[in-house]
Amino acid sequence: MYILKSSTINNLDKPQQHTAGQGLAKLACATLAQTKPSEVQLFYTTTGQPHAKVKDRTYSISIAHTKNLVAALAATYSKRIGLDVEYPRSFSNKILAAFLNQPEIKILRELFPKNKKLRETLAWSCKEAYLKAAGLGLRQHPLSLNIQIKNKTKSKITGKILDTKKGREAFIQAKFTSKQIIAISYYDTTK
Ligand SMILES: CC(C)(COP(=O)(O)OP(=O)(O)OC[C@H]1O[C@@H](n2cnc3c(N)ncnc32)[C@H](O)[C@@H]1OP(=O)(O)O)[C@@H](O)C(=O)NCCC(=O)NCCS
Repeated sequence: MYILKSSTINNLDKPQQHTAGQGLAKLACATLAQTKPSEVQLFYTTTGQPHAKVKDRTYSISIAHTKNLVAALAATYSKRIGLDVEYPRSFSNKILAAFLNQPEIKILRELFPKNKKLRETLAWSCKEAYLKAAGLGLRQHPLSLNIQIKNKTKSKITGKILDTKKGREAFIQAKFTSKQIIAISYYDTTK
């Protein structure tokens, strides 16, 4: 089980995004642990991945922010979770080739023939969510990941990400409109 909290606030600067993200992360974790946000302590690994502690119990959390949208996700520690929020945007061919492989580009084009910005940002967002779950962020190359979309509706895709470097499979889900994307990825460390 995971808890997602998000909030739309206009024109936040970076320090405000950071503070709002931490507040939402404490709220999400407190909801999961059935306690008060003031009981939740946040800490970061050396690679920058956030975690939370309530008494002597550790929780997985993930935080993402943009100028107008902040979100945080919390889950029990056996799950590694990652979250990304994005506005659909254009990528140059050079950037595109640096994070999507050719089969992924082909499948995404078939699934979203009319909206290039949306399909490319969705893929970016799913990979970033996984890389945050894995804790390395962009220190791990996005081309080492393969997205497999299993289901697509008007506002949601679900599927998995294969991490070819770690030999791991993670769940991905992204909810989208033409203006905004929220992607979540997680995998179970006990499997
Ligand atoms: C993780 C990363 C992809 C996040 O992307 P972003 O554009 O900075 O911003 P987002 O809003 O999506 O996410 C920011 C949050 O990601 C989280 N984060 C940062 N590094 C993380 C990591 N290694 N693993 C998981 N989460 C991480 C933090 O909670 C951060 O918010 P906070 O500092 O306010 O708590 C990116 O920062 C990254 O790859 N960092 C590691 C490598 C690096 O520093 N490279 C330099 C640029 S290539």
